[in-house]
Amino acid sequence: MTALLDLQDLSVRYAARRSLLGGGAPRPAVDGVSLRIEPGRTFGLVGESGSGKSTIGRAILRLVDTSEGAIVFDGQDIADFGRRSPLSYRRAVQVVFQNPTTALNASWSIEDILLEPIRMHRKLPSSAEESRLVDQLLDQVGMSGYHRKRYPWELSGGQCQRIAIARALASQPRLIVCDEPVSALDVSTQSQVINLLEDLQEELGVAYLFIAHDLAVVRHISDEVGVMYSGRLLETGPAEEVYTAPAHPYTRMLLAAIPIPDPDAQRERRRLRRELRTAQKTVQNAAQQDVRPDAQEPAAPAADPRAEAGCPFQSRCPLVMPVCRTVMPPMRPTAGGGHVACHAHEPMTNGVPLDDR
Ligand SMILES: Nc1ncnc2c1ncn2[C@@H]1O[C@H](COP(=O)(O)OP(=O)(O)OP(=O)(O)O)[C@@H](O)[C@H]1O
Ligand code: SF4
Ligand SMILES: [Mg+2]
Repeated sequence: MTALLDLQDLSVRYAARRSLLGGGAPRPAVDGVSLRIEPGRTFGLVGESGSGKSTIGRAILRLVDTSEGAIVFDGQDIADFGRRSPLSYRRAVQVVFQNPTTALNASWSIEDILLEPIRMHRKLPSSAEESRLVDQLLDQVGMSGYHRKRYPWELSGGQCQRIAIARALASQPRLIVCDEPVSALDVSTQSQVINLLEDLQEELGVAYLFIAHDLAVVRHISDEVGVMYSGRLLETGPAEEVYTAPAHPYTRMLLAAIPIPDPDAQRERRRLRRELRTAQKTVQNAAQQDVRPDAQEPAAPAADPRAEAGCPFQSRCPLVMPVCRTVMPPMRPTAGGGHVACHAHEPMTNGVPLDDR
């Protein structure tokens, strides 16, 4: 299938931070990221704070410039647009942000908030038709006509997020960048909003780049998942594969941190967490004594993994090897149809995959 969105080796560098960090050029905020989103599908992008998730979203929305690589939307390199994106692109690619209350203009009624994109993008022949579309959008996100004359501050966080989703839908987008759209909501509201996004996708065929901090949130909504760390995509693949057969040590750590109800699985997770802690302690102790089994490099991990050579995850990885400290692992195919950037995944290295320990 042709990709709707194709990020090719994308890098984004923020100029201000580069000058603040002395001592050599740091890695960019986003470094060589490639991913594809098919029409009507969801790509879940996870990673801890500062890993570069929102920067990818901002680059797609053209709020930051790309330093290297390309963003190809529907077969067209968006760099060819020039400085201002054409209306067709702004219509096709929308965004839903994390904090719905600040994302909506507090002094506008819900009706006005929805009429703005309708007037900009839909060019309907009469105000009666515009008004009908406001009702239709409210209905699509599970709100009623009663809310038309309300203001954002009169609504709950979940209701505000529904309005933000309705506003994004007003232009009939083909892709919505959902930047942590449920992180600010309580758990029960989170699942309602995720279910709503799924229903809308089924009904409208819209694709999502769904950004979240942890894998638990994106599990059910995602077709593909990508795991970011320090500006790099470390693992990507079909969602079920990444959950059931994670290939990267960092993905395994993230999965081990998710609480799950099944007692057998919980026991297994506890065992995994214990193993990871022991392995990390061994590496840390060896580093403190500077007698690590693997290398003669400096013992202390660098403060900013972007400034280190080699794998960005090396200072936290229980499987670290000498090669990890000097060579950035390239993305290699996994058995499950995904890709992973880890030297331990190479048959030629002496790294032992966690499952075999
Ligand atoms: N405007 C900016 N100027 C300079 N550096 C920035 C800017 N915005 C982000 N950064 C840096 O770029 C890196 C990636 O930031 P980004 O916001 O993309 O991370 P994130 O994964 O979305 O984090 P979070 O989960 O906290 O939202 C971070 O190191 C951040 O400090
Ligand atoms: S490349 Fe090395 S340090 Fe990085 S995750 Fe793999 S084994 Fe760990
Ligand atoms: Mg972010």
